Amino acid sequence: MDTMKGLKRTHYCVEVVNAAVGDEVVVCGFVQKRRNLGNLIFLDLRDRTGIVQLAFDDATDRAVFEKAAGCRSEFVVMAKGNIRERESKNKEIPTGDIEVFVSDLRVLSEAEVPPFEITDETKVNEELRLKYRYLDLRRSPMQHTLMMRHKIVKAARDYYDENGFIEIETPILIKSTPEGARDYLVPSRVHPGAFYALPQSPQLYKQLTMLAGFDRYMQIARCFRDEDLRADRQPEFTQIDLEMSFVDVDDVIAMNEGFMKYVFKRIMDIDIQTPFRRIPYEEAMNRYGSDKPDTRFGMELVDLSNLLQNTEFKVFAGALSTGSVRGINVKGGAEKLSRKEIDKLVEYVKTYRAKGLAYTRLNTEEGSSSYEKFLSEEEKTAIRQAMGAETGDVILIVADPSNSVVYDSLGALRCHLAEKLELIPENSFDLLWVTDFPLFEYDEEEDRYVAKHHPFTAVADEDVDKLLTDPAHCHAKAYDMVLNGCEVGGGSIRINNPELQKKMFQALGFSEEEAQERFGFLINAFQYGAPPHGGMAYGLDRLVMLMLNKPSIRDVIAFPKVQNASELMTQCPAEVDQKQLDELYIKTNLPQE
Ligand code: AMO
Ligand code: AMP
Repeated sequence: MDTMKGLKRTHYCVEVVNAAVGDEVVVCGFVQKRRNLGNLIFLDLRDRTGIVQLAFDDATDRAVFEKAAGCRSEFVVMAKGNIRERESKNKEIPTGDIEVFVSDLRVLSEAEVPPFEITDETKVNEELRLKYRYLDLRRSPMQHTLMMRHKIVKAARDYYDENGFIEIETPILIKSTPEGARDYLVPSRVHPGAFYALPQSPQLYKQLTMLAGFDRYMQIARCFRDEDLRADRQPEFTQIDLEMSFVDVDDVIAMNEGFMKYVFKRIMDIDIQTPFRRIPYEEAMNRYGSDKPDTRFGMELVDLSNLLQNTEFKVFAGALSTGSVRGINVKGGAEKLSRKEIDKLVEYVKTYRAKGLAYTRLNTEEGSSSYEKFLSEEEKTAIRQAMGAETGDVILIVADPSNSVVYDSLGALRCHLAEKLELIPENSFDLLWVTDFPLFEYDEEEDRYVAKHHPFTAVADEDVDKLLTDPAHCHAKAYDMVLNGCEVGGGSIRINNPELQKKMFQALGFSEEEAQERFGFLINAFQYGAPPHGGMAYGLDRLVMLMLNKPSIRDVIAFPKVQNASELMTQCPAEVDQKQLDELYIKTNLPQE
């Protein structure tokens, strides 16, 4: 094996276009491909900028030529040579007009045949790609993605810096505080039986930076949540996290609309229009069945409950007292949605706990329907009218005694159909705020109200008096930023009045002692002067995913975890030595096989 001794890189591969024909350059990287034509050898050399061709021929020193002949894909090499014009030009790549005619070749590392070829497009399954992630990351789309991610982070740091924010690091080993997702715990060796938690977000610390007088805080913050994974969820992820003092809702919103404008312009040269639309939570649910509505297409929900007050159809009647009957009209859907396709949709909504999906398929004026035969003529006509149904449409209806089932299933179905029927315009960025969230939501499992956002979120001024008497109807000074139907960020104005904060804990069912034990440091801190403050956090991974139009956040994270929260390359989580457990006084209590 050779060494680099005596050579120093002069250009990244694609930068050789800046050198003149005849110039001597030194390039290095991985061998993408070798073509051996007997008396002529070409090596495609790849680095993070792209590819340049290395050429060897009759005039090449024999030893160098032999070395080139021995190179295979993924060998790491360094080459010195002179730029010359290529005989057959390649218009596909930026360096396609030239090549490096090599005088000195160093093979710095040989490579086994990789388990898959390093190509831009790949059909290799994701599991194998993740197992050999360092090889997968050599592929140019992955390199591009991570470099873009870097640029987006840099833009965030620049924007918030220009606006007076100070980056402050907060701890990773913290006290476990209830609410939200499940914590990851870290046992303490020094305090046997005691645990740290990994932060679900820097929420309390960033509020304390406001109490400490820093006025504007930002951090690119790692967050950890032990929750079920989805395409847009990882157990560890990154936030662009912010907090500001002496602000109200409109100030935080304006600052962050400014960031969106800035980052889209700088990264993609796209002009984002501000201010964004604001949709109150209740309207979002009623129209889109979702608190992160995708408004790039219609197919809005229609509430049919009022039309069915006297219906004799059990399925609908049974839903009305506590829930509702709602539908969507798939315009022109009759042609694309066969009976069989509709049966699949029935199965689809069942995954969202709906018990059924009623349909009318208007392939003819009369059409065929699963429910109209159970309704009176007036009810049938009233529904068709309310849905604005015409020949060619398909009406899909969910009835359920729980409104959240109706919303979840129709909200998801709407997006599912929009994708299936290709109703979503490509390359569009639909940004909006959802506002006026309820302050609490009822947790059926725990049989109590829990904070919809987190327990430090301020109640709307007009609802302060209702905090303990009518929690169900209190609104929060909270806002979520939604991009193309995905929650990219969210935040709130916080409580800065210790009495109100105590009331909030009371509403959440904490006794005074419990609140003191868990959040005492915060309640105490508020006694010493607390500026009004608020902020938000972006899911950085989600933002990058959406900006780069990737289907999953795994595609924008260098070393992501898979569905069961393991990392395939290092195979973690993994068992540890008994000695390590002993040091921590930990005994596992696995269920017997
Ligand atoms: P929240 O819990 O809404 O708010 O998180 C903020 C944003 O982080 C992203 N996000 C995730 N991304 C990937 N994987 C996950 N598991 C995951 N969970 C959340 C979302 C979300 O909008 N401290 C508050 C913010 C505040 O009030 O200032 C917070 O963490 O894009
Ligand atoms: P059933 O009387 O249960 O056979 O229901 C008659 C029709 O009503 C079925 O064919 C379904 O299309 C529809 N249906 C059943 N349950 C629901 C539901 N929860 N929501 C909407 N439609 C339903």
